[in-house]
Amino acid sequence: MAIARFVTLNSGFKMPTLGFGTFMLKGEKLKEVLDYALFLGYRHIDTAASYENEEEIGQVLSDRVNAGRLNRKDIFITTKVPRTHLKKADVIESAQSSLAKLKTSYVDMLLVHHPWGFIKKENNEMQFEHVDLLETWQGFSTLFKSQKAHSIGVSNFTLEQIDSILKSSDVPPANVQLECHAYFLQNKLKAFCDVHHIAVSAYAPLGAPNRPAPHVQNNENLLEDPLIKEIAKSYKKTPAQVLLNFLLCRGFVVLPKSANKDRIKENLDVLNWTMTTKDYDKIASLDKGIRFFRFLFMRGHPDFFEEEDF
Ligand code: A2P
Repeated sequence: MAIARFVTLNSGFKMPTLGFGTFMLKGEKLKEVLDYALFLGYRHIDTAASYENEEEIGQVLSDRVNAGRLNRKDIFITTKVPRTHLKKADVIESAQSSLAKLKTSYVDMLLVHHPWGFIKKENNEMQFEHVDLLETWQGFSTLFKSQKAHSIGVSNFTLEQIDSILKSSDVPPANVQLECHAYFLQNKLKAFCDVHHIAVSAYAPLGAPNRPAPHVQNNENLLEDPLIKEIAKSYKKTPAQVLLNFLLCRGFVVLPKSANKDRIKENLDVLNWTMTTKDYDKIASLDKGIRFFRFLFMRGHPDFFEEEDF
C-alpha cells in the first residue's frame, strides 16, 4: 500500500496528508516548535480561532517567507470558525480576523469548527443557541467564491448535517475533520465522504493521550496497546508511527500534535514505508468505537447528537 503525500480536494487544490496539529500549543513554545517543524518539512498546519494561537503561527510563517526560506504557496493552512460565530455575518468577521492574525490574504482550508451554536453573553457566560447550519454555510460559500478560503469544510458534524449541506449548496464541503484513530475508525462517515469526494482529516490520531480534563472519561491508552507495540517493534518503528501510518494507509489526512522536538521528528517518518496487509487488518480489528472527545458538556444542545457518529 503506497502512501500518498497529498490528496486532491474536490475544490481542485492539494492538501498534504500529514499536518501539524496545534491545539493547546501557544506562545514562544509554539513559535519554537512550529519553526522546527517547518525546518523538518511539515507543510500543513492545523489551527483554529479558538486555539488562540493564530498570531504566533502568522508570525513564524511571515518571518520565514520574508527571509526567503518559505513560499506561502507551499504551505497549507487550515483554520476554523468557532461556535460563537456561526451566523453569516459572524462567519465573515471571524475569517477576516483569522486572516489578519495569520498574516495572509487567504487560508487553504476554512472549517466550521463545531455545529453547535453559542451566544457569548455580556458576563462572558456561554449559552446554547440553534443556528441554521445552511446559513453558516452560505457565509463559507461567500468566502470560497471570493477565494479568501481556497477550500471549505466542516468539523465534528454528523452524517446528516454534512448531507444537508451537500443537498442545499452549490459548493460541497471539501474536507471533514473528525476524531479518528485505531480505536474509533469512523467507517460510516469515511465511506460517506469517499462517495462524495470529501477528504477526511483525523484529529487525535494517537488517541489524544494528554487531552484536557473535560474530555477524560476513561483510561484507555492507544499508544500502550499491546498489539500496536508488538507491530511497532517488528518494523523498528514507534507505536505513534504505526498508528499514523495505519490511518494514512486507510486514506485519512492525519494531524498529530506534539510540543516535543524528538516526537515532532518521529511523527514525520510515516510516509515512506508501509505495513503488510495482515498487520493493517489486525490494527483495523482494534476498533472499539471509543471516542475520547465526547463533548458531554454539549448535552442539551439542540444540534448535539451524542448517539450519532461525528
Ligand atoms: P507531546 O506534546 O509531549 O509530544 P493526538 O495528536 O492524538 O491528539 O495526541 C497528542 C498527544 O500525543 C500530545 O500530547 C503529545 O505529547 C503526544 N505525542 C505526540 N507525538 C507522540 C509520539 N510520537 N509518541 C508519543 N506521544 C506523542
